[in-house]
Amino acid sequence: MIKLTDVSHRYHIGDQVTHALHHLEFSAEPGEIISITGPSGSGKSTLLSIMGCLLKPSDGTVSVMGNNLDTLDDAEKAALRRNHLGFIFQSFNLIPVLNAMENVEYPLILCGIDSRERKQRAERMLATVGLQQQMKKRPNQLSGGQKQRVAIARALIAEPDFVLADEPTANLDSHTAADLLALMSDLNKELNTAFIFSTHDPKVQLFPIGSFILKMER
Ligand SMILES: Nc1ncnc2c1ncn2[C@@H]1O[C@H](COP(=O)(O)OP(=O)(O)OP(=O)(O)O)[C@@H](O)[C@H]1O
Ligand SMILES: [Mg+2]
Repeated sequence: MIKLTDVSHRYHIGDQVTHALHHLEFSAEPGEIISITGPSGSGKSTLLSIMGCLLKPSDGTVSVMGNNLDTLDDAEKAALRRNHLGFIFQSFNLIPVLNAMENVEYPLILCGIDSRERKQRAERMLATVGLQQQMKKRPNQLSGGQKQRVAIARALIAEPDFVLADEPTANLDSHTAADLLALMSDLNKELNTAFIFSTHDPKVQLFPIGSFILKMER
């Protein structure tokens, strides 16, 4: 599970301080789907970065899969991310020189999985997200929705316990966004993958997923 206890975060630029999160309590169990909503600047991306072990909060305690992050060094945090977390960034962050298949395989290289198994698993995952015809295409040859699906396949390939997604439906038309949410819901049922995503898209909240909504009003 992921648990934040009394977490606050401040950003410092020169002598200007921005209070991004105030004394926040948050927890997510395996298999949950949680949407984090709140106005722009309310700290959604900050919160996702903190629970993804990418950003250390100014105050408070973060525990991921039973590990207090304060007790882990950088290599141990990287291993925790590799083994338990998947990330979907709003800008996709696909590697431009790799095709869809190679982008999806990439996390398995980091896990030391051999080439044959990597190819099989990447093929299966791309088929799951409906991209069996697009495996050889590079990101600049794919539409926005297709790129987003490659990003999802890459986030899921190592079968993480939690997928952290920052506004995954932003930049998608409402039809593609609905397909994407249905896909997340299916994967949640099949693999018990937990999804924690931020959104300020009101349509996302209407989607019938068993989510609870954490409002971060300032
Ligand atoms: N790297 C940074 N340095 C300084 N201030 C930052 C940094 N990142 C975010 N902030 C500030 O922290 C606050 C929270 O930002 P954050 O990006 O977490 O909000 P958000 O809810 O994700 O917003 P949006 O909906 O626009 O993506 C904002 O006031 C922002 O300006
Ligand atoms: Mg954000």
